[in-house]
Amino acid sequence: MRQPAGPERRLILLSNRLPFVVQRDAQGGTTVEPGAGGLVTALAPVLRDRGGTWIGWSGALDEENLDLPRMLRGAARASGYSLEPIQLTARERTFFYHGFANEIVWPLFHDLQSRCRFESGYWESYRDVTRKYAAAAAGLTRHGDLIWVHDYHLMSVGRELREMGVHNRLGFFLHIPFPPLDIFLKLPWRFPILRDLLTYDLIGFQTLRDRRNFVQCVRRLGEGAVVRGKGQVTRLRGAGCETRLGVFPIGIDFREFAHRASAPEVTAAAASVAAHHHGGCLLLGVDRLDYTKGIPEKLLAFREALRRNPDMLGRVTLVQVVVPSRGEIPQYSDLLGEIEQLVGRINGEFTRAGWLPVHYMYRSLLQPELLSYYRAADVLLTTPCKDGMNLVAKEYCACQLQERGVLILSEFAGAAAQLQRGALLVNPYDTEGMAEAIRIACAMPEAERRKRMHRMRLVIRRQDVFWWVNGFLEAWSGGRLDNFPVQDDYMPEAPA
Ligand code: UDP
Ligand code: G6P
Repeated sequence: MRQPAGPERRLILLSNRLPFVVQRDAQGGTTVEPGAGGLVTALAPVLRDRGGTWIGWSGALDEENLDLPRMLRGAARASGYSLEPIQLTARERTFFYHGFANEIVWPLFHDLQSRCRFESGYWESYRDVTRKYAAAAAGLTRHGDLIWVHDYHLMSVGRELREMGVHNRLGFFLHIPFPPLDIFLKLPWRFPILRDLLTYDLIGFQTLRDRRNFVQCVRRLGEGAVVRGKGQVTRLRGAGCETRLGVFPIGIDFREFAHRASAPEVTAAAASVAAHHHGGCLLLGVDRLDYTKGIPEKLLAFREALRRNPDMLGRVTLVQVVVPSRGEIPQYSDLLGEIEQLVGRINGEFTRAGWLPVHYMYRSLLQPELLSYYRAADVLLTTPCKDGMNLVAKEYCACQLQERGVLILSEFAGAAAQLQRGALLVNPYDTEGMAEAIRIACAMPEAERRKRMHRMRLVIRRQDVFWWVNGFLEAWSGGRLDNFPVQDDYMPEAPA
């Protein structure tokens, strides 16, 4: 029998991080700031809307002995849901967060196995931390609550909860891609991870490709699990335990973004950004510092565009925002050096009196400032080598109130499936192709820009974050997965 999964059920949400980060400031005090990243942007409006409890790490360490419940009280009151902080030790931060999550699963699931460090100590720490999250959830769960686990850091929490005797419905959503079998096979812990994932009642993926990859792994490594139809996996050995698999491309709170973008202070700030660039073509990039985001590839393409198109000199400017992230991991700090060197080289090669080709910011922007850039930019250049979804692309479109901007989007972002009819899709490994897309975007007639942007905004408005959460909850309560149609993945066609 179908059970309601609607608002009457309390939601317990788990993700590695809480939506607020507790940090030390320069004076030795502490601050509570909103967290960055797509997961937080997407989930915060969901909990604000429904209420519930969010369990996650605040960024503070156990050794700091902070009174986190007291420090987070104000943030929880303002956000409308409760916050349950998890304490990580310094060792867990290194071995679990930096190590297992971000030096193994993150690169592997983004098809970059050469960047992985398969240390066995990481796995032990992953096990311990997973248990910690599960224990926190088990401690607060009441009969009938829905327990919804998010993202690659916490894949095994479901199994821990079952072993702790929790019988509530368990859902899991993977915000990042799921890799193809040949890449997943490289994971030394491929069998336990797959087994653990199959303890959830429902697993959600961003794209059809991710689900197809997962199904292929289950077919070959699933230890007797039987795949039925397109969207269901039945475990034979789990005494009737069934895991359903769905595709739910995550969205944004479109109306809220559009509303905030129309605020008078954002409008004024956008006008001042545009005026500063003297009516030329303003390209924007907004990316977390991450090798998956294709930032060097984008800079090389911009340089190529300037080299090939002298008429762009003095007229086309790239504003690139890089948001600090995971800076203690050497590959991230190396990347920062590479980006800064490239920016310096491009500016060194092309700067003229009164025109700087790349305006570079290495910091997190407050939302009004970010929205003013979204509004002012003629073109958003978002070219990840691989990305689960890429919410920046959707936010840019939501903030294009006049529908005049152009989106240049990587084929390898999850968002390419939904936005393929409006974006200029590019392969980030094809420098010349991207340079040509930049030229086309800057020269695109207004009517075409409007047609493309209008199409994308319709999709993003319709398939917003509430559509996403309702789709997941509906499937969780036993609804048919094909009630939730999603766009096919983008596939390039041979040039004519
Ligand atoms: N963002 C932010 N601070 C900034 C710039 C961006 O919090 O200074 C947000 C942005 O609004 C978006 C998220 O970070 O919601 C990035 O999400 P995306 O899915 O594009 O990439 P992720 O960082 O999750 O890999
Ligand atoms: C991606 C991941 C999120 C993560 C975010 C920021 O969006 O899918 O789970 O929170 O990046 O990364 P961080 O390591 O700072 O949490």
